[in-house]
Amino acid sequence: MENRKRLTELPAWKALSAHSREHKHPLRDLFAGDPERGERMAAHGAGLYLDYSKNWITDETLRLLLQLAEETGLRERIDAMFRGEKINLTESRAVLHTALRAPKGSSIRLDGENVVPLVHDVLDRMACFADKVRNGSWKGHSGKRIRNIVNIGIGGSDLGPVMAYEALKHYSDRSLTFRFVSNIDGTDFAEAVQDLHPEETLFIVSSKTFTTLETMTNAETARDWLVQGNHGDRTAVAKHFVAVSTNTAAVTAFGIDSDNMFGFWDWVGGRYSMDSAIGLATMIAVGPGHFRSMLAGFHEMDEHFRTAPFEHNLPVLLALLSIWYSNFFGAETIAVIPYEQYLKRFPAYLQQLTMESNGKRVTLDGVEVDYSTSPIYWGEPGTNGQHSFFQLIHQGTRLIPCDMIAFVEPLHPLGRHHDLLLANVFAQTEALAFGKTLEEVQAEGVPDWLAPHKVFAGNRPSNTILARRLTPDILGKLVALYEHCVFVQGAIWNINPFDQWGVELGKALAQRIIPELESAEEPHLAHDSSTNAMIRRYRKLKEK
Ligand code: F6P
Repeated sequence: MENRKRLTELPAWKALSAHSREHKHPLRDLFAGDPERGERMAAHGAGLYLDYSKNWITDETLRLLLQLAEETGLRERIDAMFRGEKINLTESRAVLHTALRAPKGSSIRLDGENVVPLVHDVLDRMACFADKVRNGSWKGHSGKRIRNIVNIGIGGSDLGPVMAYEALKHYSDRSLTFRFVSNIDGTDFAEAVQDLHPEETLFIVSSKTFTTLETMTNAETARDWLVQGNHGDRTAVAKHFVAVSTNTAAVTAFGIDSDNMFGFWDWVGGRYSMDSAIGLATMIAVGPGHFRSMLAGFHEMDEHFRTAPFEHNLPVLLALLSIWYSNFFGAETIAVIPYEQYLKRFPAYLQQLTMESNGKRVTLDGVEVDYSTSPIYWGEPGTNGQHSFFQLIHQGTRLIPCDMIAFVEPLHPLGRHHDLLLANVFAQTEALAFGKTLEEVQAEGVPDWLAPHKVFAGNRPSNTILARRLTPDILGKLVALYEHCVFVQGAIWNINPFDQWGVELGKALAQRIIPELESAEEPHLAHDSSTNAMIRRYRKLKEK
């Protein structure tokens, strides 16, 4: 790939930098000067409505941000991804999660082969298996019906499935119990199975590589638990274990028949895989129909991203706004607040998607960046967050742009609950943007000594994403919205959002330390003095 001009040298970057220094318009003034702003600065796409009017932007800001997208070659990058070019340069891989939701009959060619039929073959096999588990025709080793499904995986092989399961619980088969085991901490496994019966439990071992320490350790523990619960009969594994992986040899070596393996491909990144076979637990929970409708939602957002002009393009706008605050105003974080209890794991899911993707410090050309890359994404569902960390967002000293996510129709219409919930979403963005001045506080008769404590500076930016109802289709759209937002950020920062070398060093060092903790003899420790001291202390206390 041709070396790109340094980002900070681009005319749009320089203009944005100057513009940010001149930008002295608080949101109060911006709204006062433009009565149409709330209607004007909103975009619709694929069934989502994005209100971005409560941001520190003018038409000029938007113009410059869009110019930045042009100057960084965003259009070519998007096209290259959809064409299946090997844009994951450091791993020499294509990035084709969009093919996972391409409709049957479409064609996406990779190295001359159309990958869409492969995707649909796996989806059909998954659907067949999911139906068997759901209708009880897939029986456990002793002939009992499967009632519990335990997904074992970590990172992208856990966060997507657990997030989607929680998000779509309303649509799930409540006669089945779902558990998700990820942590190598034995507590995770022990708690997940403590009330389950092995004869009625199915394990899905989900791992792209099938070598991840946490997953393989948990899978081995699960196999022991299962065999023990089936009177020591090792052949029970056949009916109680299935695998989702790209590594057939390792799956077979573990003892899972390749007929019970659901594959995917190296062009699907772990954190972009919840709509591949990694979504098997989701499909069993909600059924193949709902799963396919989630895929259709993903695809609709893909099409919006691929075709909508940048000024109306939701992922592009979301990404440009994040860049505006991170790079030109030093915002370190972005809070994502879903006002929907079923999305409680969505912020955790986004953490991997955003930060494992764009937590990078060198460009695609291997040059150290001189600008910040991914902000820290975090959040909790509203209204709970309002009663914990919102104080800091309203009155603290840090700039924390927020993305609020809300739905017009509740999944549980209970009395006034939903109006009260939505009133809180709207009230929060209003309070954040417009605050309360000293004069307003004083006019309420608040004594002078107390008044400063009751002032809200306001001018806190937020986006609001509104959809009609949390359905499988809308979930697909929401996830794709953020996937593509991450892509746009990465393209502008000229980094690779699709590798994750940063997790390797810790893994390698853990492998070195494991025998030092387990060996019977005192090991020769050649770490720094802190690590050596902790290892010695652990060994000593463990022996007592
Ligand atoms: O944390 C590193 C990572 O490689 C993630 O990118 C990935 O989602 C996770 O580990 C799990 O990997 P695997 O699916 O291969 O077990």
